Amino acid sequence: MKVLVTGGAGYIGSTTAKALEQAGHTPVILDSLLNGPLAFVRDRIFYEGDIADRELLRRIVAEHPDIDATIHMAARIVVPESMVLPYEYYRDNVAKSLELFDELVALGKPRVLFSSSASLYAMKESFEVTESDPLDPTSPYARTKRMMEQVLVDMANATDLRAIILRYFNPIGSDPDLESGIYAKEPSHVLGQLVLAARGLKDSFTITGTAHPTRDGTGIRDYIHVWDLAQAHVRAVERFDEVLATVDAPSVVINIGTGEGVTVRELVASFERVFGSKVPITEAPPRPGDAVGAFANVDRSAALLGWSAGLTIDEAIASALAWGAKRQEILGYE
Ligand SMILES: NC(=O)c1ccc[n+]([C@@H]2O[C@H](COP(=O)([O-])OP(=O)(O)OC[C@H]3O[C@@H](n4cnc5c(N)ncnc54)[C@H](O)[C@@H]3O)[C@@H](O)[C@H]2O)c1
Repeated sequence: MKVLVTGGAGYIGSTTAKALEQAGHTPVILDSLLNGPLAFVRDRIFYEGDIADRELLRRIVAEHPDIDATIHMAARIVVPESMVLPYEYYRDNVAKSLELFDELVALGKPRVLFSSSASLYAMKESFEVTESDPLDPTSPYARTKRMMEQVLVDMANATDLRAIILRYFNPIGSDPDLESGIYAKEPSHVLGQLVLAARGLKDSFTITGTAHPTRDGTGIRDYIHVWDLAQAHVRAVERFDEVLATVDAPSVVINIGTGEGVTVRELVASFERVFGSKVPITEAPPRPGDAVGAFANVDRSAALLGWSAGLTIDEAIASALAWGAKRQEILGYE
């Protein structure tokens, strides 16, 4: 199959592109390089440009008429930044995605897989969330994802568009060949921060939020190895029509996680075990927009995709550490 991957120069997009290749498919990358590095596109079919550039989309489809589906990952993704740049977040994640979806329908390319997020869920006492649980996005970033889910449901009802909405939990780790991983100089993700602290590139790791109603007061997440997440996309693309036929609907939402809830303190303990020594810790109040968290009920992903996460949190941590040691070679910076 040939798959258009928007945001394919990014962390998850580049890893997913590799997983598609390994499964015998061909990714076609569209990325503006707003954030993703050119190094992650390597020798792939790559178009540098914006998802809302309809002329470019027409050219891509004219040059690759055999595109079977689109994985739409391009977005601005930093929660605290979205609190101070709401216009940029709504413009890029909402308005531009609308242009993309409308043009894909016009071009007769109706299959869309959308990167949504577990940060949409309202807090639940048990922290285990199913796809039908209430939503309460707490940041502009999360609200852009909620809006695009609604847009996809409405467009799928009214047009030829068909949508599989993947609500990712918390990807960590890097691709198995260490060709891509977290690339931000100051990663906002928890594991990126831990790697920096462990490698002495930061004074300490800051636990943001220690008075949450979880078992140890710190936020709870469902950390999924990015390579597992990439495989979920391969399954979803391969089974696209079958999945929607099974649910008998033009769109569906699927949680993509491991099904295990891990607190920040537990993550730090696992990290120290894999790393082999202690990491200096500081405690601070939650960042603006931070959610207490959730972990995935994974029944639907198992039933519809025949997929479940196979790699352990220790493997993900080891891969993030290995990438941390290697990334300067690929990115040109620590
Ligand atoms: N990383 C996470 O923890 C996480 C969790 C849940 C959901 N997601 C979603 O997964 C997707 C990928 O996330 P990621 O972590 O790989 O982020 P990333 O920032 O590494 O990748 C996003 C890519 O999109 C590109 N991009 C942004 N705006 C664009 C535009 N208008 N046109 C073309 N390209 C554009 C960027 O240059 C970047 O390469 C995003 O949609 C994100 O919201 C990520």
